[in-house]
Order: sequence, then C-alpha cells, then structure tokens
Amino acid sequence: MNKPHAVITRRIAPEAVHLLQQHASVWQWNASDPVPRAILLERIGEADALLALLTERVDDELLAAAPRLRIVANMAVGYDNVDVAAARRRSVIVTNTPGVLTETSAEFALALIMAATRRLKEAMRWVERGHWTAWDPLLLLGIDLTGATLGLVGYGRIAAAVARRAHALGMRVLYHARSRHIEDEERLGVEYAELPSLLALSDVVSLHVPLSRETYHLIGESELRLMKRSAFLVNTARGGVIDPDALVRALRESTIAGAALDVTEPEPLTADHPLVQLDNCLVVPHIASASIATRTRMATLAVENIIAVLSRRAPLTPVL
Ligand code: DGY
Repeated sequence: MNKPHAVITRRIAPEAVHLLQQHASVWQWNASDPVPRAILLERIGEADALLALLTERVDDELLAAAPRLRIVANMAVGYDNVDVAAARRRSVIVTNTPGVLTETSAEFALALIMAATRRLKEAMRWVERGHWTAWDPLLLLGIDLTGATLGLVGYGRIAAAVARRAHALGMRVLYHARSRHIEDEERLGVEYAELPSLLALSDVVSLHVPLSRETYHLIGESELRLMKRSAFLVNTARGGVIDPDALVRALRESTIAGAALDVTEPEPLTADHPLVQLDNCLVVPHIASASIATRTRMATLAVENIIAVLSRRAPLTPVL
C-alpha cells in the first residue's frame, strides 16, 4: 500500500522529520526562509498532511488546492494563520502545539520584562556608542520588579506561568481575561481587573491573548494613554494585538517608558522601522519559544498529531 504523503513547510528539528518519514512520504521545504506560496500551492495537491508554521497562510485557497488533505498540524500554539472554519468545512483536522512551549515562553516573557525595565537596549547602545566613560549613580536608572505591579492581559497557560514567576519575584500580579481563575487568585494572589484599571495600575503590562477579531489592535492610542508614563509594555503574543503607529507615538512622546516586543505588526520589521530604531523599544525576532528542547518538542508534537490522524486515531492536540 502506498504511504500517505506529508508536506513540511520549513526546516525543522530533524528528529521530527525522521519520525514522520517512518509513516509517510515527505516533501519538505528544507530552508530557513518561508516556502513561496506558489510552490506550496503546487505541492499541497498531493498531500494528506501538512505541517505548517505560523508564517503560512492556511486559507480557503490553500485548502481548495489540497483535495486529499486530512490534517493541518500547525507548529505553534497560536493558529491565527489558519482559517479553522474553512478547514472544518472541508473536514480537515487542525492541531496546534499547546503545553510544550509554556515554560520556555514564560521564561522569555520574563526576560523581556527584565530587559525593558532595566533598559538593556539603551545600556548596550550606550556602551557600543562609546559613551561609557565613568560609573554614574544616575545613569540608566530603571525600576525594581520586587514590589512592582505586573498586568497580564489574557490568562492562558503562558500567562499563568509568567504569573508564577512574577509572584516568586515579589510582584503584585493583576490579570484581565474572559474568565476568572479563582484557583490562581487563591494560590498566587493574582487579582482580576478590568482592562482599563489593569492598564492604569500596572508598572509592566504583558500581553498574552491570541490574535482574533476581538483582540486585533486591542492596545491602541486610548489604552496606551491609560498606562502610567513610567510603565512598560511587553508583547510575546501576536504583533496584531498592538496598534504599531500608536505605540510609536507613545514611545516617542514618552507617554509610556518603554516596550519590549517579541512579535510585531508587520512581521518581520525592517531595520529602519521606528520601533527598531527607538532606544526605548527592544525588538527581537519572535523567539519566545526558541530553545533547542522546546522547538524539538513542538516539531515532534506536530508530527505525532499527523501520525495519529493518518493512522485514523484521534489527534493529540486538536484546535477546538
Ligand atoms: C506560538 O507557538 O504561537 C509562538 O508564537 C511560536 O512559538
């Protein structure tokens, strides 16, 4: 019997590719740049399974070009790049990779919180530009996290993992989400707040909502105005959650103190983009889950979902 056919859209952990090759014939775009759309549209025609990344738009056009397709395994916890309704209409299962990247992403959110509040980018530029002449008691002063208030917008697995770390640092933690998390309120002392008061009270606002019609540009001009002038904004969710023009204005006019962005709109940003150029804005290239172990686990989980579906078993982590 012919093996089913799978398409992998990028270079990923080789262990995961080898695992998939035991169950399917595999075509892979084995490069570090995204597969050109035209090539993907051509290759998807024969595919029973697609391992996609967040850089691929899995929309009706792509699904229509894939008459045999049974599963889209997105190698990310977020799946705003996939038209889930269109997949459902065509009985294509969609899976993501929740759980395996939680701690790694939370660690990175904390790294950005620390980098922003201690003005790491400015400090590095200061040295690189040759300005470091003497120790200065008033040079590059930031804020202490101990005793500061962290506002988490969204409270999924990653936000909860950030809350645990922030709690250990002695921060007060506020959160805003669609539902209450009573257990964490009791265990960690996290406090529910409506978005406007969370923005007004927090020293650091960290975003953890998925991108959807409801969360697109959730943080715009008026929300930024609610934040303290001394506050920092951190985004490890999706770039589209922030209105970038409003953020540029807020950073230029110092209506907030700074930002640290793992994700941006658009993505990638060019080196001459104001958010990249500004001293009070740290931008990194969407790497919150980028540890060796976690990226391997994400690829393996995506492959395990494909193997399950191709073997007519239930997927491990379907998108509900
Ligand atoms: C995700 O999983 O959604 C991240 O953005 C990449 O790890």
